[in-house]
Amino acid sequence: DWTMKAFREEAIERIRAQVGTGRVICGLSGGVDSAVAAVLIHEAIGDQLTCVFVDHGLLRASEAEQVVTLFRDHYNIPLVHVQAQGPFIGELEGVSDPEVKRKTIGRLFIDVFDEEAKKIGGADFLAQGTLYPDVIESVSFTGGPSVTIKSHHNVGGLPERMNMKLVEPLRELFKDEVRVLGRELGLPDAFVGRHPFPGPGLAIRVPGEITREKLDILRKADAIYLEEIRNAGLYDEIWQAFAVLLPVKTVGVMGDARTYDHVCALRAVTSIDGMTADFYPFDMGFLGRVATRIINEVKGINRVTYDITSKPPGTIEWE
Ligand code: XMP
Repeated sequence: DWTMKAFREEAIERIRAQVGTGRVICGLSGGVDSAVAAVLIHEAIGDQLTCVFVDHGLLRASEAEQVVTLFRDHYNIPLVHVQAQGPFIGELEGVSDPEVKRKTIGRLFIDVFDEEAKKIGGADFLAQGTLYPDVIESVSFTGGPSVTIKSHHNVGGLPERMNMKLVEPLRELFKDEVRVLGRELGLPDAFVGRHPFPGPGLAIRVPGEITREKLDILRKADAIYLEEIRNAGLYDEIWQAFAVLLPVKTVGVMGDARTYDHVCALRAVTSIDGMTADFYPFDMGFLGRVATRIINEVKGINRVTYDITSKPPGTIEWE
């Protein structure tokens, strides 16, 4: 793609001009955006870059392995894999307000990056895969007064105490452009085509208080749902699909026993840029199969619903 080739060259020059001989830490989330940002920055400044992947205990099944494999084996880009499940899950204990969750997670990410920066003798910059829609949505809602819809953890500047400046080479791009750039940079198709995954991870897919047990239940349901979507050949038609574990228990019957377990909501949307979205019109047979599998295979869920809300008025994530 000619335009992206030009963007790539320009972006590399801009990164070099901004960073000089400084050191950069790049936080990888497992998503496409931060991966593309990291590869681009690596191309610009080589080993002045250190990538950090934080396992906050809010990742999907086998997510950590996939990211580590891609960076270490495919790209040979050094990657620090931080195990931070303890602090994240600990600090989120008792927290049920969505904005408090997001802010807590954002603060803990900064703590980890700070600590990793110290270990390499200090870093001057923090790189993030912030896109244009992240910038807009964190500032205001189109057509209305200036209202924050959600605090995206990777937007909004850094705390005073952190002496790092931001490097955000994708700030002008939309998701489809980032995917083109990712292919241009040689990222594997399967990775470039990945659905977006938010920085706060599964924390915002467990409305209410988070526990390890709820996260384990959600991971299993989510993996089944995505496996069925892939098997049906629908993955690439969908912008994003995921399961949500509701803080509601309902009565059911399994064999001749009464059950009293969580409700799982399934979400799938089509979208161009994440700013507006339509729910995906699965056929009922597909939804029925997924529901049966989740209820039979995941202990802790006895009812499944499908979310038919578009954006607006709903957001894609539930929190
Ligand atoms: P919403 O839920 O606001 O999401 O309609 C729009 C898109 O943004 C993703 N999202 C996030 N990504 N950090 C991120 O990196 C965040 O805090 C965050 N919140 C939402 C969401 O998954 C969807 O693709």
